[in-house]
Amino acid sequence: MAEEQPTDVGPGHLWLEGKTLVHLRQDQDRPTHMPRGPAKRTGPGFLNPAMAPARTRSVLLMADALEHSWLTKPDQPLRALDALCATGVRVRRWRNEIPENHQNRLRITANDLDRFALDWLNRSHAAFPPAVSVDHDPEDDRYLRPVKGAMNNGIYTLQNDARMTLLEAGYQWVDLDPFGSPVNFLDAAVQGLARVGFLEVTATDTAALTGSSQGSQFRRYGAKGIVDSYAHDDAVRVLLGLVATTAARHDRSIEPVLALFDGHHVRISVKVRRSRESASNVLDSIGWRIRNDDGTYRFVHHPTPEEVERGSGPLWIGSLWDEHIAGRMTEERVLAVCSPTKEEIEKAKKHGLAWNENDQEYAARELRRSVRYISEAAMLMAKDHTLYHMDDLPNMAGTGQAPKMDALFEAIQEAGYGAARIPDIDPFLVTDAPHEVVMGCVRERCHS
Ligand SMILES: C[S@@+](CC[C@H](N)C(=O)[O-])C[C@H]1O[C@@H](n2cnc3c(N)ncnc32)[C@H](O)[C@@H]1O
Repeated sequence: MAEEQPTDVGPGHLWLEGKTLVHLRQDQDRPTHMPRGPAKRTGPGFLNPAMAPARTRSVLLMADALEHSWLTKPDQPLRALDALCATGVRVRRWRNEIPENHQNRLRITANDLDRFALDWLNRSHAAFPPAVSVDHDPEDDRYLRPVKGAMNNGIYTLQNDARMTLLEAGYQWVDLDPFGSPVNFLDAAVQGLARVGFLEVTATDTAALTGSSQGSQFRRYGAKGIVDSYAHDDAVRVLLGLVATTAARHDRSIEPVLALFDGHHVRISVKVRRSRESASNVLDSIGWRIRNDDGTYRFVHHPTPEEVERGSGPLWIGSLWDEHIAGRMTEERVLAVCSPTKEEIEKAKKHGLAWNENDQEYAARELRRSVRYISEAAMLMAKDHTLYHMDDLPNMAGTGQAPKMDALFEAIQEAGYGAARIPDIDPFLVTDAPHEVVMGCVRERCHS
């Protein structure tokens, strides 16, 4: 464990996530760069460093929404709520890392039931304030009843059950990051959104989402799974399916912008619009994934009883990403928005951060990893495509070995189709090439 550092926030030590100084509890180990899996310990004040990439993407998406005005007009404010904010690392990153020219449009509310966590947030935000102070009144007049919130340099904190906060004011941006399943909060989240809104949902109950825990999958998501190479994609689509049908019950429809299986959790980001007509068409995007004899799959709307046996669903069968927004999530962009400058690191060191050249290099690598493969796969993930697990290809093509990924992508592209890797922990090819073309390319590259 790193030596204890003196901080102006009490005992503990400091860590840098993106550009944001995070105060960690004394008994939490210094995080490693590129952590995987759930945190070893949880509870008030514990930061889960494995969620850093998801928070980084949240910063990038919000910066993109403000820059490209896809949620609000260029002169309008964007009201954002982290409904289960814990110690507020995400909201503090929004305040510290979204480019300065957009900060005056952001109205950030951070809610949690836990007083200890909110106090931690407020102390950290006061001790390590954003580069530019934010000065606007709390928007407490938008709530249905008098609320007891606190304004701290552009972050308004509330201590409520998240469902109350969600229902009491119309937000354009809602983040739901619970422990485990988000199902308890979905109705309130959708109802609480403005006419056009953006909803980001984390689910860590991957056993239920993939179907490895069948009972919980059926109870929570009303779905049936098959645990095979497509289980990660199924998990993403099962969650999207529930969010879509929940939205439809409240006369809204969804448009996925980004949806990922990120190791130990699923994270989906969707635009939500109020529209009875689109909501009525929700079943057009819900169906089943049926496994074919050749190892591939097809999506159907209404499976026969025989197909149900070899199928997973119901789940979302529409597109998964927005080509343009995801296409802009490049490594250059993440470094430009979230990587600290030398001056910012020096300033952080004056607060007591222990950070050397290696830390800086690893942190930049971790930032790049948060968006790795996304922009290259964006076009394909935004339309009809097929996924192939690289380990399945030798059996499917009868080659006994898999070609190198890059060589295979090149062959598919030379054949006139798209091919890219997706950001999953396992190596997956996404392509719009017909199956025979993919098999031909596998055989060609295995024998060349
Ligand atoms: C996984 S943590 C959130 C992590 C945080 N979003 C981040 O990025 O660091 C879940 C939080 O939900 C809070 N919580 C659980 N049930 C709640 C409820 N019904 N209303 C409000 N907060 C709740 C817990 O206190 C905990 O801080």
